[in-house]
Amino acid sequence: MVGRIEPCRIVDLTEFKDARGRLSVVESGKDIPFDIKRAYYMYDIPDGVSRGAHGHRRLRQIIIAVAGSFEVVVDDGFDQATFVLDRPDKGLLMGPMVWRDMINYAPGTVGLWLVSEPYDESDYYRDYQEFLRDARELR
Ligand code: TYD
Repeated sequence: MVGRIEPCRIVDLTEFKDARGRLSVVESGKDIPFDIKRAYYMYDIPDGVSRGAHGHRRLRQIIIAVAGSFEVVVDDGFDQATFVLDRPDKGLLMGPMVWRDMINYAPGTVGLWLVSEPYDESDYYRDYQEFLRDARELR
C-alpha cells in the first residue's frame, strides 16, 4: 500500500442520479477526511504531457477526473502504484509525503484537485532525491 502516513486510495463519491442526470458531491468530513481550503483544476492539457513531479510535506488532497481520464503514479519512497481516474464519481485520496506524476491525459480531460492547505511553495518537494531522503525516514 503506497502512502506511509495515509494510504492512497480510490473513494466513491456520494452521487445523486435522476432523470435530469447525475450529481456528485465532495463534502468534508463525509466523503473526505479533511477540510477543503483550496480548489484548482487542469484542462487544455496537450497530448503526451506529464504533470506533477512533486510531493507535499503536509497537504492532503482528493483528485477527480471531472471529464476524461488520466493516471496518477504515486511513490512513497518505498513502493509505487498507478491509479486510473476515469469517472467523475470517484476520487483519489492522497495524504502527505507521496511523490506523484500525472500521465496519459485523454483529450478534453478536466482534472479537479480539492486540497487541505492554501498554496504554499514551501510545502512542496520539487526535487525527487530530497523527497526520497525524507520519505525513507518514515520507515
Ligand atoms: P505546478 O505545481 O507546476 O502544477 P502541477 O500540479 O502540474 O505540478 O503549478 C503550475 C503553476 O501554478 C506554478 O507556477 C505554481 C502555480 N500554482 C499556484 O500559484 N497556485 C496553486 O494553487 C497551484 C496548484 C499552482
